[in-house]
Formats: sequence, structure tokens, C-alpha cells
Amino acid sequence: MRPGGPCASVSGVAADSVGAVVLAAGLGTRMKSGIAKVLHSLGGQPLLWYPLAALRRLDPERVVVVVGYQADAVRAVAEGVGLRGLKTVVQSEQRGTGHAVRCAAPALAGFTGDLLILYGDAPLVRTTTLQRLLEHHRASAADLTLLSMRLPDPYGYGRIVRDERGRVVRIVEERDASAEERAIDEVNPGFYCVRAPVLLPCLEELRADNAQGEYYLTDIVALAAGRGCRLESLETDRPEELAGINSRAELAAAEGRLRAERVAHFLAAGVTFEDPATAYIGPLVEIGADTVIGPNVILRGTTRVGRNCRLDGTAWLHDTVLEDDVHLRFGCVLEGAVVGAEAIVGPFARLRPGTRLGPRVHIGNFVETKNAVLGEGTKANHLSYLGDCDIGAETNVGAGTITCNYDGFAKHRTTIGARVQIGSDTQLVAPVEVGDDAYIGAGTTVTRSVPPGALAVSRPELRFVEGWTARRRARARQRKD
Ligand code: UD1
Ligand code: MG
Repeated sequence: MRPGGPCASVSGVAADSVGAVVLAAGLGTRMKSGIAKVLHSLGGQPLLWYPLAALRRLDPERVVVVVGYQADAVRAVAEGVGLRGLKTVVQSEQRGTGHAVRCAAPALAGFTGDLLILYGDAPLVRTTTLQRLLEHHRASAADLTLLSMRLPDPYGYGRIVRDERGRVVRIVEERDASAEERAIDEVNPGFYCVRAPVLLPCLEELRADNAQGEYYLTDIVALAAGRGCRLESLETDRPEELAGINSRAELAAAEGRLRAERVAHFLAAGVTFEDPATAYIGPLVEIGADTVIGPNVILRGTTRVGRNCRLDGTAWLHDTVLEDDVHLRFGCVLEGAVVGAEAIVGPFARLRPGTRLGPRVHIGNFVETKNAVLGEGTKANHLSYLGDCDIGAETNVGAGTITCNYDGFAKHRTTIGARVQIGSDTQLVAPVEVGDDAYIGAGTTVTRSVPPGALAVSRPELRFVEGWTARRRARARQRKD
């Protein structure tokens, strides 16, 4: 028997299934933040979202996310990714990465397959890299396989120590390393693939006898080697993909890399960027070919931009759909909106959640919409608030139209038909309906439903007081004298 007890691989348990453990319990002291590190935003998504999204495409049968600091918020992120077989476990005191995996062990009971272990602070990893790690692990019949990378400046990372025959024997953390070990440029990016029956006994043996007084996950390497297990490593030639984020500077660097990657992806797919350096495209965003993106455009969430659209510049879009051939003029903010094909929006328009614009709709400057459904070809070109309303096709909404949707207690809907002409400075006091083909005179306050085809005008009679100005000025002069 080898030192430290037999390696569990001796028992020859089949390991076909894939599971994963993702560590996300820490505060992230080096971020100098009141917010858990894995909740910090990268490309508009929390850091933790990324490794989980990369895992989702591998469809592991079980995923355990270890939460602790700000557990509820971190759990909510994990649950939002849509992984099959997700469990979260709480590490109530953060006593190190090894301790965190130990907390996951009960949730892994009965699992005998291969486990990928990832840290929640390494967001840029691709599914193909995790796949390669798993394949290498299986092809070499290893018990434990690590990714490795070489860095010109390895500062901060655990160093991979090898024996004279080049075999991995242990990982030593920066703070525990000798000067000689610190000179090693091969580091541990923190991605492991391990057979579950090998991992569990190693976790039992972890000790916190190190510079940080923590249970290091990295010590499983030496423990597994001591048990005679088969250790493998796979070196990446893309270290930037595996970088961990421990500080704001590293977060900013990752943001820059992600941004450049997303822009490069869409350039290759036929999208024009007038200034690639100021395009901010989130990881779930889609953009169709022949679309032109002007400077300073921020596309976030599940935003989808169709083909042949034009975004003039300075726009913020979140969870928004632009269908094909949409022209978004300068300076617009769109959230939770759907804009139909060939519509023209802006400049300076704000479309809020629940906005649904039909094809060829025009929305002009200083128009705000919310829960507003506008039919094909309808126009609201100037200075309007359209909230909680349905408007039919080919209607014209005049400048300064307001749907008065809130009475101080509840919101009410305004329904406007097709081919309606709404004069400037109209107030529609909801709930109210305007029938098809009706006309509303400028300055009207609509307090009752307007029948189809009718003209509605509410206007005090216009009267003239002849000579009033001269009399007024004369009075003012007398007062001064
Ligand atoms: C870790 C590795 C180091 C590696 C580096 C790669 C250890 C001991 N060190 O160091 O070898 O080079 O990652 O980026 O593993 N966490 C918990 N519970 C805890 C402590 C941490 O869940 O008690 C989580 C954190 O939330 C974080 C992840 O584990 O997502 C990694 O922790 P971090 O403190 O960033 O480890 P590093 O110092 O970067
Ligand atoms: Mg880290």
C-alpha cells in the first residue's frame, strides 16, 4: 500500500457521469467592497453567472454551488442560470476553499462520477476548455486532473510543484511558498477534475496548518499524490481565459477582455462597429448581420438586435428586442421593449418595460412609453408620455400628449383605436377609450370615452379684450410716477 492509504481508483468504480462544485462563499477581501465578489458585475452579469453558464452547456447531472457571504443574493444568481440538478449549500464560516468543498460533500452523497471543481471568481472560462479538461482526465484514466498555465508574473497564484520526473506533486500558495517555489512560473488557475470517490477521503485529511490558517483545496493534490493516485495536468495556451478576479484592477481587465471578445465575435458575424472601443455587448446579446452600431452603445441582458438595424450612438438597451431594419437614433434608453421592423425611435426616447411597437412605428424626441402597445405605422413624434395604453395602427399622437394613467391609488389603461388623430397637448384621463377614426382637438382633456369617428374637443371659448395691453401699461406707469 502507498503512503496515505490506497487510492480509491483501485476499486475501479466506473465514472461516466459529470458533476460540478462551484465555490462562491467568500467575501473577496481584496475587492474592498461591501458586495460579495461573485456578485460584482462583468458585462452586466454577476461574475458567478459566467462559470455556471459555461457549465450549463456541459449539462452536468449534479451541480453544487457553495454560498456563504450574502448567501441569498448569490443563491438567486445561481438559480437564475437554469442548471439541471442545481443545489446550493451554505458555508457559514469561510474557512478556505477546501473547507468549502467539504461543505458540498453531503450534497454529493451517492455521486461516484467525475467532479469538476471551479471557483466562482474565474468568469472567462469557455465550455470547450472544461470539456477538454474532462476529456483529458478520462482519456488518461486519471484520478485528479488540473488545468495549468504559465504566467510571466505568477504573483498571487498557487504554484504547481513537480518532482524530478515532471509529475505534479503538490500546489503551494503564494504566502506559503519558499523563494525558490515563488520562482515557478507554472500556476494553478483553479480548475480541477476529480473522481468523487478520490476527493472525499482527501477532504477529510485537509489541515489548516498554513500561513492563512485555512483549509486549502489545493492540498488535495499532495494528498492524492501521497495516496498513489494518478495525477494529470493540462496546460492551456490561453491563460487570459482562466484568470481569477481578486481585485478591481483584475475585474477591469476582464471587462476589457470580454468587451473585445464580444465585439470581435460580432465583427466576424457581419456587424459594423463605428467605434469598437466604445461598444459594450453583454454575453447573452445577439446582433444580426449588416447592423451598424455607432459609438457608445451599451447592450445588456437578453437584448436581441435584428439584421440591418442602425444604432446612431449613445444608447442603453436592456432585455430589448429590435426587429430587422430598425433605426435607433442618437441617445435612447430602452428596457424590456420590443421594437417592430422598420421602426424609427429617437433621438432621446425612453422605452420602458412592456413597450411593444409594431412595424414602422415612429417614436420621436422626448417620448416616454411604458406598458404601451402601438400598432403598425403609428407615430408619436414629440414630447409625450404613453403609459399603460393600447394604440391601434396608423394613429398619430400629437406633441405633448399625456396618458394620465395614475390617480394616486392605481394605474388605469387608455385604449386608442386605429387611424386616430390626437391633437397636441391632449390629456387622456384613464381609464378611457378613443374609438377608431376619432379626432381629438388640440388641448383637449379626454375624461369620457370618445365614439369612433367623432371629434372630441374640450376647450374654453376663446375671447378677446380689446385694448387691454395699452391700459395695463398705462396703469403700471402711473404706479411708478
Ligand atoms: C485560489 C487557489 C490558488 C489559485 C487561485 C486561482 C486555494 C487555496 N488557492 O486562490 O491556488 O491559484 O485560486 O484563481 O484554493 N471561497 C469559498 N469559501 C472559502 C474561501 C473561498 O467559497 O472559504 C471561494 C471564493 O468565493 C472564490 C473562490 O473560492 O470564488 C476562490 O477563493 P479566493 O480567495 O479567490 O482564492 P485565491 O486566493 O484566488
Ligand atoms: Mg481568486
